[in-house]
Amino acid sequence: MKTLEGIFNPIEKDIEQLNDRLMNQISPDSHSLCSILQNIFAAGGKRLRPALSFLMFRALAETRNAIYPEAEAKLFLIAEIAELIHTASLVHDDIIDNSLVRRGAPTTNSKWSNAITVISGDFMFARAAVNLARIDINKVVEIFASVLENLCSGEIRQVEQKYNADISFDYYYLKTYNKTASLFEACTFALTELFPLTDTEKRAIANYGKFIGMAFQIIDDILDFTSDEESLGKPAGADIREGQINLPLLFAFETLKQINPDKCAYMKERIQQIPSEKDNLKIQKTIDDSIRIIEETAGIERSYEKAIEYVKEAVKGLSFLPESKYKNSLVELADFVIKRSN
Ligand code: FPP
Ligand code: MG
Repeated sequence: MKTLEGIFNPIEKDIEQLNDRLMNQISPDSHSLCSILQNIFAAGGKRLRPALSFLMFRALAETRNAIYPEAEAKLFLIAEIAELIHTASLVHDDIIDNSLVRRGAPTTNSKWSNAITVISGDFMFARAAVNLARIDINKVVEIFASVLENLCSGEIRQVEQKYNADISFDYYYLKTYNKTASLFEACTFALTELFPLTDTEKRAIANYGKFIGMAFQIIDDILDFTSDEESLGKPAGADIREGQINLPLLFAFETLKQINPDKCAYMKERIQQIPSEKDNLKIQKTIDDSIRIIEETAGIERSYEKAIEYVKEAVKGLSFLPESKYKNSLVELADFVIKRSN
C-alpha cells in the first residue's frame, strides 16, 4: 500500500499552499483567535478532504478547459472551505464529547474555555462563509450550506440516540452520510461547477467523494475495535463506552438475533445501561463481551466488505477520466482509505 505522502505527491505544492493559507486566517496582531487557530491547524491532520478536491480538479483539467479563467483561485477557496468546516466541526465535537486529546495533541477545549472554543469554531465557519461568497457561484454555496445542515442533523442524531442499541442499518447509513460522507461529497461535487460536464459525469464525481466518505467512516468504526490505544489515541471499544452503536456491532446484533435472540436482547440492555452504571469494571466487561460477540459473528469482516463495496463503486465512476498521475492517486486513495490503520 502506498503511503498518504506518496499518494499526495502530485499535489504536494497545492497542500503546502493550503497549509500556508490555513495558518494565516487572521493577521497576528488582531487578537487571541489568531494564536488559537494557528494552534489548531499546526496540530496537523491528513488534509484528506482538500486533497480530494485538488486531485479531482487536476484530473479533470488534464483534458478539459475550466469554465472560469479564475478556476484555480476558486479551487483553493473550495479546498480551504472543506478543511475549515471539517476542523470547526471537530472543535465543536470535542466540546460535545468532552474530549481532551485529538491527533495526539491537547484539544482546544482542554486549553481554553468552552466559550472561547465555541467562538473559535464559529469563526472558522464564518471564514468558510466568506470564502463561499468569494467563489461567487450560487450552486457551490448551496452544496456547502447543505453540508452544514447535514453535519448538524448527523450530530443531533448521534447525541439523541446515544446508547440506543436498537438503531437500524438505515439510520446508521443516514447518520454516516450526514456526519461524514456529505462533506467528502461536497469536496468533489463543488468542482463540477467549474468544468463543462454531463449530468452523469457530475454524479460520478460527486459519488466518488461520497462513497470514499462512507468507506472512511466505516473503517473508522472498525478501527475503534481493532486498533490499540497507541495507534488510535483511545482504547479499543471507546465508541461503545461513548454510546456510539456502529456498523460492526449492528452486524453482530443482526446475526446474534438469529442464533440467540435472548443473548442479543441481554447484550443490548447492558449497553443501554452503560450511562447509569457506576462500576467501571462492569462497563469494561460489557465492552469486552461486545467485542467478543463482534469477533464471533464476523462483524468486522462484514463491515470491511461494505467499505470495499463503497470504494469499488467510487473507483468505477472514474472510468471516464483520462489516465493521469492525478487519477492514479484517486484510485490509490480509495485503497488507502480501506487499508489505513489510524
Ligand atoms: C466527529 O465525530 C464529528 C463530526 C464528524 C461532526 C460533528 C458536527 C458538529 C459538531 C456540528 C457542526 C456544527 C455546525 C455549526 C455546522 P466522532 O465524535 O464520532 O469522531 P471523533 O472520534 O473523531 O471525535
Ligand atoms: Mg468526538
